[in-house]
Amino acid sequence: MASDEIDDLPQPFDAKKLEPAKKRQRSRSPSEPPRKLKRPGQRARIPDSQAASFRQRQEQREREAAEAAAATRAVLEQRGINDVVREHYNAVPERGRDWRKTDSRIKGLRSFNNWVKSTIIQKFSPDEDHTPGAHERGHDLAWSGGHELLVLDIGCGKGGDLGKWQQAPQRVGLYVGLDPADVSIEQARDRYRNMSNRGGGGRGGRGGHRGGRPPRIFDARFLVKDCYGESIEELEIVRQVGFDRSPMGRSGFDIVSMMFCMHYAFESEQKARRMLENVSGALKKGGRFIGCIPSSDVIGEQVIKFNERMAAKKKGSPEDAEPPKEDLEEGEAEETAEWGNELYRVRFPGKTPADGIFRPPFGWKYNFYLHEAVEEVPEYVVPWEAFRALAEDYNLEMQYHERFADIWESEKDDHILGPLSERMGVRGRSRGDLLVSPEEMEVANFYVAFCFYKV
Ligand SMILES: C[S@@+](CC[C@H](N)C(=O)[O-])C[C@H]1O[C@@H](n2cnc3c(N)ncnc32)[C@H](O)[C@@H]1O
Repeated sequence: MASDEIDDLPQPFDAKKLEPAKKRQRSRSPSEPPRKLKRPGQRARIPDSQAASFRQRQEQREREAAEAAAATRAVLEQRGINDVVREHYNAVPERGRDWRKTDSRIKGLRSFNNWVKSTIIQKFSPDEDHTPGAHERGHDLAWSGGHELLVLDIGCGKGGDLGKWQQAPQRVGLYVGLDPADVSIEQARDRYRNMSNRGGGGRGGRGGHRGGRPPRIFDARFLVKDCYGESIEELEIVRQVGFDRSPMGRSGFDIVSMMFCMHYAFESEQKARRMLENVSGALKKGGRFIGCIPSSDVIGEQVIKFNERMAAKKKGSPEDAEPPKEDLEEGEAEETAEWGNELYRVRFPGKTPADGIFRPPFGWKYNFYLHEAVEEVPEYVVPWEAFRALAEDYNLEMQYHERFADIWESEKDDHILGPLSERMGVRGRSRGDLLVSPEEMEVANFYVAFCFYKV
């Protein structure tokens, strides 16, 4: 060991090396007369002009500190909402496929929602070649040319859609799942590992791969990411696939999927725009943006009914009338729009628009409860027309927008999707009865599915 290295190590204690303590200033005896304090000399006095400028600078510093504190408070409040959502999804127990299929009280709803998601994937995942002359060359369906899909699943949760992608009509080459809930991402990785160990499988879908597909599973990545507060461009895998906001982008994902999760972005315009920037940037030209969200039409209808009821009550007997806010007893809340059934409940904490149109289109919070699945989590209305207009700013053009019950009516007899509904337990074998109760159907009809494409 070199000597300079030894000096860096703790040395043995050597009492002889101690130096005497410095002489301390003697404290004054109480009998001594007080020492005269020197008056500040002329040079120490601050001219009035300088004092005013000090004061101004001090005030400026205080203002800046107050602004910084307000900004920090805003960030913490934002984080509060994100944390509630993230912690909720992290805490939902993974009870296994068997429990979901047999013991769950909402098993009909689970099967139905899964069938709708499969339907959207089956309908919109075939990749169209938008290059000039593709149609004439017979190349407008790229799967005929063997192109493998690149799929980005935003808000992928526990990876519940991995199997659906394995059965997509066109083979998936890469699946990237993003979600801010770290526990869910870990569960999604486990699910993928189990699928890989089983060899992937896949019974084939609309594209006619049944029987002909090798049982290989696609390559997949799972990353913890807040896709409404942050840009996903910084993710290596997203950059490798290609991230380009311009309508010219020829590289990028073929599909961005957002199942049951986009409504969390409508907390603010900033988040909704960031989300759309991420979707559009990640998509290649001609790529599809698919998903499902609560229907603002359904919410609007319920809100109108509630406000009409309240107005009628006010007009009716004085005892029935809503007391003005200041007359409410302490702790007594004003009645707000609320509806549901034994399986779900929607509750607005504040006032709602009488005409059912949500303006401005951001920040309309309600609490959502779903038996066995969602515990009073804050969600936000996605006013459809405003969303559609906003999406156009990001080169996303609407192609499809349907209520879940209408999707059932129009697709249940399809030669692929009909039998799929039987295998998924939505109805009995051989076009048997619907296995979804009316209460479950009411919950399902709270949702719409959509598809946009990047132009
Ligand atoms: C109802 S779950 C849906 C999960 C999955 N897409 C499915 O259909 O099974 C909603 C998901 O949205 C995710 N989410 C919430 N805020 C998000 C954000 N800022 N960025 C990405 N995902 C988010 C939640 O963590 C949760 O996993």
